[in-house]
Amino acid sequence: MNVRIAPSILSADFACLADEVEAVLAAGVDWIHVDVMDGQFVPNLTMGPLVVAALRRRFDCHLDVHLMVQRPEGLLAAFAESGASTLTVHAEATPHVHRALQQIRALGVQAGLALNPGTGLDVIDGVADELDLLLVMTVNPGFGGQPFLRGQLRKVQQARAKLDALGRHDVPIEVDGGITTATMPLVVAAGARICVAGSAVFGAVDRRAAVAALRRAGEQGLAQAGDAGAPR
Ligand code: DX5
Ligand code: ZN
Repeated sequence: MNVRIAPSILSADFACLADEVEAVLAAGVDWIHVDVMDGQFVPNLTMGPLVVAALRRRFDCHLDVHLMVQRPEGLLAAFAESGASTLTVHAEATPHVHRALQQIRALGVQAGLALNPGTGLDVIDGVADELDLLLVMTVNPGFGGQPFLRGQLRKVQQARAKLDALGRHDVPIEVDGGITTATMPLVVAAGARICVAGSAVFGAVDRRAAVAALRRAGEQGLAQAGDAGAPR
């Protein structure tokens, strides 16, 4: 699988969100990443299902919804209804991670599990059968524009090895936070195949150039991993 680029609209201009999304889709991105924050799980408050539904009415693309929400179970149906393609919940946000992932799949949506930087990989063992995606946070969630945590690179490698050992070669690893042209080759070489980038895309004056540069950085990482084109 090639590397997917998923710009986070957290760093977009909310006053003209549709234009912003249209611009990055025209620049050739793969997914649109939607950061949902509840002011409790993380100290920031963003958007809900109404925004996802509004985007869905305008765009046909994959909407990758990252729920930084305490006890997300009660919101899953509303987000599925709004047209989310992937719903990712945090392992730290509920004691019933397995059930939450099952609920997402039962709603006909791809199920993602996100791990904060301080969270280990053990949780994967119990839920591997219910996963469509694993999100390894490369910053502490809550804000865009934070510096990349290099210590998470080893975790990406270990997560890839663990998923493979569990027979889940098909589950891609997504990384989120501090992704730039400098860090993208590193995360891809470590095994990430979906890269969220907020400020690196929306903070650039020329979005087309920014996406092209990230695309090249991803290819560099694939070349380093020596597995360009390998299925995953
Ligand atoms: C962090 C969010 C990220 C963030 C990434 O809590 O989940 O998606 O917007 O922003 P950058 O790429 O600027 O680190
Ligand atoms: Zn995110």
